[in-house]
Amino acid sequence: MTSIDALMRSVPVIPVLVVEEVAHAEPIARALVAGGLTALEVTLRTPAALEVIRAMAKVEGAVVGAGTVLNPRDLDAALNAGAQFIVSPGLTEPLTRAALDRGVPYLPGVANAADIMRGLDHGLDRFKFFPAEASGGIKALKALAGPFHQVRFCPTGGISEATAPDWLALKPVLCVGGSWVVPAGVPDETAIRRAAEAASRLRAA
Ligand code: 3PG
Repeated sequence: MTSIDALMRSVPVIPVLVVEEVAHAEPIARALVAGGLTALEVTLRTPAALEVIRAMAKVEGAVVGAGTVLNPRDLDAALNAGAQFIVSPGLTEPLTRAALDRGVPYLPGVANAADIMRGLDHGLDRFKFFPAEASGGIKALKALAGPFHQVRFCPTGGISEATAPDWLALKPVLCVGGSWVVPAGVPDETAIRRAAEAASRLRAA
């Protein structure tokens, strides 16, 4: 199983997916992988999400994870559906313990120093900085990176194709997350592939 660090370094952008229809899962995953984005975060925000994970996991080259995982019950449901990594908007004791216990690569959300310190207490040092723009943006991330020089982030929330390069230029940032790559509705495979190609070219380093 890939470590969360390796996963974050494998792509500049992790697309955050809100998929309403199981039938859309395969075309979306195929287009993203064809465009070079292989780590896919399927949010558990739709009734179809678990089936979407199942369907996307069958697409060659896709590393499918679950996002919006809020508690150990969500975590186990996602793992049973085939999720290979877990993302949560925040960091709680029960979810962190469950993720460590199951041994699954886990990216918890943090928004401040106390969140990061609780993560470090559990031996975690890779986090989703969420909600990135609303929590103070690049200025806040730079300030947090001072005392936590060993920590690396995947900022997510309010990031666009236009602003992603500014985030990716920061040393503590390994990748960013964003929903801009896949718009809601019936998937246009060509448009998604092109957006994924553009996103996968974002990192210069
Ligand atoms: C998430 O769940 O990570 C965010 O909703 C994604 O934020 P964005 O829609 O602003 O990219």
